[in-house]
Amino acid sequence: ESPESSAQLFAGIHIMITAGPTREAIDPVRYISNHSSGKMGFAIAQAAQAMGAKVTLIAGPVELSTPDKVARTDVVSAQDMLNAVEREIDEQDIFIACAAVADYRIAAENTQKLKKKAEELSLTFTQNPDILKTVAQRKQPPFTLGFAAETNDVENYARAKLEKKQLNMIAANDVSIPGLGFNSDRNALLVITKEHTQKLAPASKSALAHELMLLVHSEYKRTHK
Ligand code: CTP
Ligand code: CA
Repeated sequence: ESPESSAQLFAGIHIMITAGPTREAIDPVRYISNHSSGKMGFAIAQAAQAMGAKVTLIAGPVELSTPDKVARTDVVSAQDMLNAVEREIDEQDIFIACAAVADYRIAAENTQKLKKKAEELSLTFTQNPDILKTVAQRKQPPFTLGFAAETNDVENYARAKLEKKQLNMIAANDVSIPGLGFNSDRNALLVITKEHTQKLAPASKSALAHELMLLVHSEYKRTHK
């Protein structure tokens, strides 16, 4: 399908996208995070906007410029990201969780810098809220698309997440393939719904984002209208 013919597919539809990593403070000068670049989420935001959607992008710490006509809110931690999502979730028709949210944060945040003392250091972590699951469990949830980055048994793990989080769709990528996924400009996806699995072949993240949003559109129309 050409970009021209898809230009108004999402006219009047509000889409929220989370992107990038989150950053969890250890103390005032240190944090833990992950290697997510945010590129896939930003590419999806751009594709959705080009297809006529009103797009809200909730971004963790990334070095990317905001796609044209996309409303962006920057956040740092998983808890910040959940707060930003909940502030505007009521108006959303579609929620796309592309962020690599840190699963854990420091149990008791240190308000002062940790000093170097013993030879070994242990930190205790506690689980962060699951943003996607929280959205999917709402009374009237928007259409939900999750992502799953896996290193093995990709389709099975992704399908398990689709069911456990009660999502409409999940896009899985195999992060063990060199040159694809995390930090790369290219990616490949396995797009899974209750009924079927579709393969999107390796391509630029912008081309892939367009293909993915076409699948989201047909599944959204089928299930939510
Ligand atoms: N996700 C989220 N909030 C979290 C963790 C994950 O919104 N605290 C979302 C991600 O944005 C992604 C999906 O849930 O869309 C799956 O994330 P993933 O890390 O693959 O799954 P987890 O459920 O965290 O399981 P695990 O990391 O153990 O594989
Ligand atoms: Ca995780």
